[in-house]
Amino acid sequence: MTDRTSYHVPILSKETLEYMNCQPGGTYIDATLGGGGHAKMLLNASSPNGFLIGIDRDLDALEIARKTLEEFRERTKLIHGNLKDLKKLCSTLNISKVNGILMDLGISSDQLERSHRGFSFKFPDDPLDMRMDVTIPFTAAEILNKSSESLLRDILLKYGEERWAAAIAREIVHTRKAAPLRIVKDLISAIKRAVPAKARHKRRHMATKTFQALRLYVNDELNSLRKGLEAGLSLLAPGGRMVVISFHSLEDRIVKQTFIAASKKTSLMEGKRFTILTRHPVRPTQNEIMRNPRARSAKLRVLERSMP
Ligand SMILES: C[S@@+](CC[C@H](N)C(=O)[O-])C[C@H]1O[C@@H](n2cnc3c(N)ncnc32)[C@H](O)[C@@H]1O
Repeated sequence: MTDRTSYHVPILSKETLEYMNCQPGGTYIDATLGGGGHAKMLLNASSPNGFLIGIDRDLDALEIARKTLEEFRERTKLIHGNLKDLKKLCSTLNISKVNGILMDLGISSDQLERSHRGFSFKFPDDPLDMRMDVTIPFTAAEILNKSSESLLRDILLKYGEERWAAAIAREIVHTRKAAPLRIVKDLISAIKRAVPAKARHKRRHMATKTFQALRLYVNDELNSLRKGLEAGLSLLAPGGRMVVISFHSLEDRIVKQTFIAASKKTSLMEGKRFTILTRHPVRPTQNEIMRNPRARSAKLRVLERSMP
């Protein structure tokens, strides 16, 4: 990556800002900092003395965010970490309660278009890496070349809901007998051979679901989300809010179910009460989708810890 400024456009930014309800002096977490676009808005809204903890598992994202948030250096702490460890990361800063937590899930435009780590099928010569955090051990290529056919099929089914999972898994195993899959076009060619031409979707690239599945699996995204949401609930101060933006049904289902469960089990949660502020998820306007097509599948949900 050469250009160190973010070109990711924050999604549902006005709605996020309204729901985060930032106040001067408050403490906020952006658990998926990315290029720092949302974080900058939260810091402005909590001026002059709000504090922000920014977390990202991608070292490149942190570097970009550091630049975006330069003017707020005194009131930010940026951490390389996984949101599943939210509680531990906060305790190292001696923080046990916060007034708001934002999770804008998935990957950023910077990762998709500029990281050249194989997240996008638009770059056929990129390596099949797909790690957000390059310090974790397994790349997508290792999963593709070493997993059994049945595991590959299960990954594509569970994390991509890919109808052609069995055929694609079979073709991957067949392909790697000749040579390991190394770069994006190796995988796309295998998918092309597995999915019959007449079954290909007109508007969605035939590799979309396979790429989503591998990315979720490599980065263990759904487990991280489950753990991060639980940790977030335990960190919210009375009146504090958790705002989560998800981009596909697997993520959204986890967010929705966690929020419903939290809002129902008052007595079990040490007397804490939580209220769902978004009966239906907030969606981007047509105008936002036109300006930023990446927003089209976004869903925003908000949970508030009630005042005692
Ligand atoms: C959609 S982007 C966030 C963009 C950001 N809101 C902005 O305005 O620039 C998601 C970011 O979350 C990070 N991320 C995804 N899963 C994570 C996790 N489990 N822990 C920490 N960071 C994560 C990704 O590396 C990526 O940088």
